[in-house]
Amino acid sequence: MILDGAATAKELRQQLAETIQKQGLAPGLAVVLVGDDPASQVYVRNKARAAEEVGIASRTHRLPAATSQEDLLALVTSLNNDAAVHGILVQLPLPRHIDEQAVVAAIDPSKDVDGFHPVNVGKLSLGLPGFVPCTPQGCMILLKQALPDPSGKRALVLGRSNIVGKPMAALLLQAHCTVTVAHSRTQDVAEECARADILVSAIGKPAFVKGAWIKEGAVVIDVGINRVAMTDAEGKTRLVGDVDFEKAALRARAITPVPGGVGPMTIACLLKNTVESAKAHRVRRDGI
Ligand code: GUN
Repeated sequence: MILDGAATAKELRQQLAETIQKQGLAPGLAVVLVGDDPASQVYVRNKARAAEEVGIASRTHRLPAATSQEDLLALVTSLNNDAAVHGILVQLPLPRHIDEQAVVAAIDPSKDVDGFHPVNVGKLSLGLPGFVPCTPQGCMILLKQALPDPSGKRALVLGRSNIVGKPMAALLLQAHCTVTVAHSRTQDVAEECARADILVSAIGKPAFVKGAWIKEGAVVIDVGINRVAMTDAEGKTRLVGDVDFEKAALRARAITPVPGGVGPMTIACLLKNTVESAKAHRVRRDGI
């Protein structure tokens, strides 16, 4: 079973467009990009386009790499105070001279559609309602297509980043899995994989996870988006995941492809968080 993230994301976007129309919402998303990291530019463009397509007004603030932390914080404050903005996304990574944590902490938690603010991180850890980071949220949707009730399963998360690995582990724990987090200091990753009924890889190493490591019948969610040179074409590149897809697919019960797996789900969940935020702000303002 190939878990089709592109199709699932499309469905989710259609539902969101319907909700916006039916409920007469006017959601607004502000995207902030500092500097000219090429991958970030692509992500930001895709996020803005997807937002517009479902009926979310999106504004992208492109700031030069030399922007001071003070100026960036001032922009965040003005977005916090802008009633037309329901979601604020500061694209990471930020240039080295800016303290990422200080910027994330400055975002109003009720507009933190990335779910990166310490308040939302804490809520997720406590199992309280709050914004859930988009990539792990998208992974859970795809996982549940293959395994509607993951309760009691052994889940392995590869990678311990704040953006994916840690929140992913929290969500799997909330879904009653027995959760292991493996990382660069883990002694025997292959051995950990062999026990995993659910494997979520978010390490950013092309084809690191070998087919032979996969437990027969496991569900494999591949978060990696790695650009590699094509073997047969000069200068051309293609995207591959963290998992050796062809070989892993022979053992897995279900697996996400790259591209067309987790990637489109991340953006769809960002839009979902923004629509939820617009609803919540309206309730707070008008009581409806
Ligand atoms: N950089 C890589 N992934 C993300 C993401 O989901 N949100 C933000 N803001 N930056 C990122």
